[in-house]
This record gives sequence, C-alpha cells and structure tokens, in this order.
Amino acid sequence: MMSVYFFFACLVFVVLRFDANAESFNNPENKISYYLHPDAGLNISQLLEKYGYPLETHVIQTEDGYLLSVHRIANGHQYYSNSPKVPVLLVHGLMSQSTDFVNAGPGRSLSYLLADEGYDVWLLNCRGNTHSRRHITLDPDKDKSKFWDFSWHEMGKYDLPNTIDYILNATNQESLFYIGHSQGTTTFFVMASLLPEYNKKIRHASLLGPAALFSNNMDIKYRTMAKFHKELKLASLIFNVHEFLRHSEFYLDVVKTLCLEGQETYDLCKALYTIGAGYSPTEFNMTILPVIASNSPSGFAVKQGFHYFQLFLNGGLFRQYDYGSIVNLVKYGASKPPNYNLSSISAPVTLHYAKEDQCVDYKDVEIIETLLPNGIKRMVPEIHFTHLDFLWGNNVKSLIYDYMLDEMEKYQ
Ligand SMILES: *[C@@H]1O[C@H](CO)[C@@H](O)[C@H](O)[C@H]1NC(C)=O
Ligand SMILES: *[C@@H]1O[C@H](CO)[C@@H](O)[C@H](O)[C@H]1NC(C)=O
Ligand SMILES: *[C@@H]1O[C@H](CO)[C@@H](O)[C@H](O)[C@H]1NC(C)=O
Ligand SMILES: *[C@@H]1O[C@H](CO)[C@@H](O)[C@H](O)[C@H]1NC(C)=O
Repeated sequence: MMSVYFFFACLVFVVLRFDANAESFNNPENKISYYLHPDAGLNISQLLEKYGYPLETHVIQTEDGYLLSVHRIANGHQYYSNSPKVPVLLVHGLMSQSTDFVNAGPGRSLSYLLADEGYDVWLLNCRGNTHSRRHITLDPDKDKSKFWDFSWHEMGKYDLPNTIDYILNATNQESLFYIGHSQGTTTFFVMASLLPEYNKKIRHASLLGPAALFSNNMDIKYRTMAKFHKELKLASLIFNVHEFLRHSEFYLDVVKTLCLEGQETYDLCKALYTIGAGYSPTEFNMTILPVIASNSPSGFAVKQGFHYFQLFLNGGLFRQYDYGSIVNLVKYGASKPPNYNLSSISAPVTLHYAKEDQCVDYKDVEIIETLLPNGIKRMVPEIHFTHLDFLWGNNVKSLIYDYMLDEMEKYQ
C-alpha cells in the first residue's frame, strides 16, 4: 500500500540530490548499454496488443456519478470455445490500476493465466486512478475538494456493486469470481458487509494480502505515518492537496535513470525498494520495475490513506471513516463511526497471506478468518514474500496462482 509511495518518495529525494551535483546525470551516452525491459513505456492497450490478447474498454457510471474504465479480456490466447465463459473481476490496490495485473507478461501475470484458462477477465479501475479520473459533473482539478472526497468506503459501496451488476447483465450470468489485491480486498469487505445481498453474486473470492485489521501491524513506517496522520490531514487542507501520486512519465524517467542493472545507483535503488516494499531475495525482480513505473503509481485520494491510518490506531476495528465525534453524530447518529460487520459476509472466501508481509500482519489476517463464516486462510508457502510479490513475485504462479485456479475450478 503505502510502501510504493515511500519508495517513490525516496527516489524523488535521490533524484533531486543527484540533479544538484551530477552533470552526467542526463547524459544519454551513460544509458546506452543498460538493459531496459522491452515493455517499458507501454500502457495496457499496447501490452495486450503486443501479446495478442484483445482488449475491450467499458465505461461504467456509478450511482454517485463517477465514470470508471473497466478493461476486459474476453478471449484468451489459447482458448476458443462457444460455451459461455465465467466472468472474473480483478480489483487493484491503493495507487494501482488495471495494468498491474498484466505487466509481468503472459504466462505470469494473473490476467493472462485466467484468460488462457477460459475466464472472461474484467479489470476494474476504481475512482480516481489514471483510467477513472472522471465524473459526470465534477472536475478532478477544478472541483478538487468534492471530486476527491472519497475513501475506499465509497469504492466498496458504489464502484464494486455497480461494476458487478454491469458485468452480470452484460454477460447474462448470475454470479462471478472476485479477485482482489490489498485495497481490492478492503473494498470487497466493505461491499460484502454493507450490502449482504451481493454475497450471492460472488461464486468465490480470492483475496491477496487481505487488508481490514491493523492492530498487530507494528511496521515503524506505517505506525509513524499513522501517528501523525492528523497533522498530515491538516497539511493537506492548508495546501489544498486532495489527490496524491498522480501518474506521470516522471516515474519511468526516474527508474530509467537510476534503477537499471549496471548503473551506479542500482544497488541504492534496490535498497530503497527493499525498505519501501520489503525484502524477498527470491521473489523480487528489478528488471520489471520500468514496466511497473510506466503506469503506476496511479493516483489516489488522500482520504483513502487517512482512512487506513485510522484503522492502525483504533484498536483492531474495521470501521467507517472517523470525522471526529461532532461530525460523526451528524453523519452516523453516533459519536463513533459504525463497524463493518465481517461476520455478515457469507460468500466463500480464501485469504492468501504471507508471514512477512509488512503491510498486512499475518496475525490480523488470522483474526479476519475467524470472523468470516465462510472463509479459509492459506499462507504463502514461502517465508520471504512481500505485499507486492502477490503481483510480481518471480514464483507467484507456482506459490499462489496455480492453487487459486484449481480452487476456482471447484466453484465452476
Ligand atoms: C495507450 O496509448 C495509446 C497511444 O498513445 C492510446 O491510443 C491508448 O488510448 C492508450 N490506452 C489507454 C488504456 O490509455
Ligand atoms: C443490460 O444489457 C443490455 C445489453 O446486453 C443493455 O441493453 C441494458 O441497458 C443493460 N441494462 C442495464 C441495467 O445495464
Ligand atoms: C526476472 O525477469 C526477467 C524478465 O522480466 C526474466 O527473464 C528473469 O528470468 C527473471 N529473473 C528471475 C530470477 O526469475
Ligand atoms: C453481524 O452479522 C452476524 C451475521 O449476520 C450477526 O449474527 C451479528 O449479530 C452481526 N453483528 C452486529 C454487531 O450487527
């Protein structure tokens, strides 16, 4: 979650330092011999076209007026059949977007594996990211404080159910598979607890790095940010900052300048990434970093971050946004925000989690499992596995995806 932010913040710092004292910094001759992944700079349309998977883009209007782009891979490479395909909805994490489910390439990224197995793959872009930075009346730049007044609560309340209804109608199906990563699991928990009628529309949910409870998370970065989140919130009001880490070409430029193998700064870049996202010697592969940075980070509302920080500090509750007791009274009719009731989630759920995930502590996931009436947990059988390895780990297919695909088959 916040780790990518931390990584990029560190990189920006390093770039600014280098810019000040290194003349050769932007000298193209210095870059020539370094290996740059051929997919760097491509967006989702270009990636899918390159690998021969047809892409459809659907625009879904939410009940509260946001316009979401949903990317669909209706036909896998190796699968041609007239039988109706079961839809599967993939939902990304904080500051991420649809491309993060394809950018590790065919045979490896989840979208391709699902398409090759014959699933009808739908990749949601939640409100506010690069592909869904639109609203029927609000302008994200001119009406900042209104457009960006949302957390993952609104994604769970509107983006997910509205998208699910759209997909079920478009495909003439009664239910679909759900796969979420990180914040894409938080939004699932919000929807399935707030709108219990949606549980029967979920055949099965695979949740990667399930993020709802944080009382056992002692990570010093997150704890520190959470501790000062009220000050951060005040600063965001004073400086009128409501959106954070919007995508720009700058991120790819930074990675190309500092993070390619052979560059002097490679080890530094790797160390920063490690501090930000955790250490997994066997899983993380720096060669893919330029491909990731081509589309992510992808922007989010600061309120999403503040809502997470509240969860770090509230003693283990999964609950709605805390506006302070007076506003809470007006909004919720009580001085404390209501809890989301995880026990009312009846859909079958598998929680995939990792022992050393810095963003989501395994003990918190194990509590979630005890609360879900129809949930099981599966710890990744690899000790060094981080929150981002669920998307890009070298061995994620054999460690998780193969198991997931087998399990989904049972719910066909
Ligand atoms: C990807 O880039 C191409 C070329 O600039 C553009 O036509 C296309 O709309 C982009 N796709 C997305 C999903 O942004
Ligand atoms: C359902 O799908 C049909 C076409 O498949 C479309 O004409 C109709 O408007 C859709 N209804 C809703 C509520 O989205
Ligand atoms: C890292 O990724 C590249 C391609 O992106 C691949 O060729 C290489 O084998 C990977 N390294 C490991 C250790 O898996
Ligand atoms: C949560 O949902 C469960 C199952 O529907 C129900 O038994 C329980 O009373 C609910 N808890 C609260 C606090 O509403």
